[in-house]
Amino acid sequence: MIIAPSLLAADFGRLAAETARVNRSGADWLHLDIMDGHFVPNLSFGPGVVKALRPLTRVFFDVHLMCSKPEILLEPFARAGADQINIHVELGAQVTSLLWKIRSLGRKVGLAINPPTQISAVQPYLDSIDELLVMTVNPGFGGQAFIYETLPKVEQAAAWRRERGLNFHIGVDGGVDFTTVADCAHAGADAFVSGTTLFGKRNLAAAVRKMRALAQRAAARATAAECVPAR
Ligand code: DX5
Ligand code: ZN
Repeated sequence: MIIAPSLLAADFGRLAAETARVNRSGADWLHLDIMDGHFVPNLSFGPGVVKALRPLTRVFFDVHLMCSKPEILLEPFARAGADQINIHVELGAQVTSLLWKIRSLGRKVGLAINPPTQISAVQPYLDSIDELLVMTVNPGFGGQAFIYETLPKVEQAAAWRRERGLNFHIGVDGGVDFTTVADCAHAGADAFVSGTTLFGKRNLAAAVRKMRALAQRAAARATAAECVPAR
């Protein structure tokens, strides 16, 4: 189970201290939301910030590009220290070349899908990715309510992963708290991006541990339910 605090919910006046907090927390990944004011109606930060934070921790940097022109950003973020770069399937015809470019830069490859987009859109790419990031809110802002209608997409992705013997992570991003994390894990997710819930706690390490335990318990319940013999 991957727990990935999202820096978007950190105190932007103290990014170095917040990164150090993540470093001590036992979190698996640090999720870095990059917004261009065009693909989504908000701006966040760029490769300069990622580069400045890189020396502060060895935690895996998971960069989420919510950008209309990711092709101009892949190299800068790879150089800045991204370990994985997610682009959006909504970019259409460009997706294949973007995924290939991320791989050729030696970085892990992520593909994100927005709530209104049909899950069939990601099917052609499943054997070329390391993570499928199912957006569980409409991207652009932290602190939004989880959209439950996205959960069948997690279930479908988990079924495809099983059937095709693939091992990409299934991530969920948006509105992931101590309740919804269990629903996501039960549906088959194994990477959990969480901003407001995790950064809002004074004890980030305890919050990360709690979220991981809830996810593990829900996943175990799902496995046990599958093993019950049909009557
Ligand atoms: C949404 C971002 C998320 C966001 C999640 O546009 O992609 O990563 O930080 O934040 P919470 O957990 O507050 O919904
Ligand atoms: Zn994100």
